[in-house]
Amino acid sequence: MSDSWTQLKQDCAACQNCPLGATRTNLVFGVGDEKAEVLFVGEGPGEQEDLKGEPFVGPAGKLLDDMLAMIGLDRSRVYIANIVKCRPPHNRDPQPNEQQACIGWLERQVELIRPKLIVCLGRIAAMALIDPGFRITRQHGQWFDVKGRRIMATYHPSALLRDESKRPEAFMDLRELRKEIRERCPNTDIRYDTL
Ligand code: URA
Repeated sequence: MSDSWTQLKQDCAACQNCPLGATRTNLVFGVGDEKAEVLFVGEGPGEQEDLKGEPFVGPAGKLLDDMLAMIGLDRSRVYIANIVKCRPPHNRDPQPNEQQACIGWLERQVELIRPKLIVCLGRIAAMALIDPGFRITRQHGQWFDVKGRRIMATYHPSALLRDESKRPEAFMDLRELRKEIRERCPNTDIRYDTL
């Protein structure tokens, strides 16, 4: 681990920039390959994530792992983080002031990882990273160039658990992601896909 990562993790672990810092069990920094070419960004930790200190380890995380496996990926070969690093109470959406207070940590992670592709999981991440007016039902699966970064959004795995009718569209987004990985991510081997 480089000094910059060590420093970033230390700084982040001490963060009390918003009220969520006072109620967290664990800060959920992120997980995966720090040199990943593909970065996935969710909205914020839920109960299981707060308890374990790792993103996407509850039911939504199981589905995310299955989705990654469909295109021959697993969480050790990508990087997974959230817009906010501490759990919002009762799993409510992170509020604008909480997102504002936290987004700098993600920015620093992006600067160190330098991913070729960023995938927003759900509306909250897409509104924060692509466009505040982002409409997930209309704009999922499309690539956007934002400040020199290539970003798309797909449905949040929790939304796919609540409403299975959205899954075929999410699978189309995964196919689009796979195509882009083949074109732009030479170090991300996705030969063993099933989608
Ligand atoms: N939902 C998210 O957005 N992030 C997590 O880490 C878990 C559930």
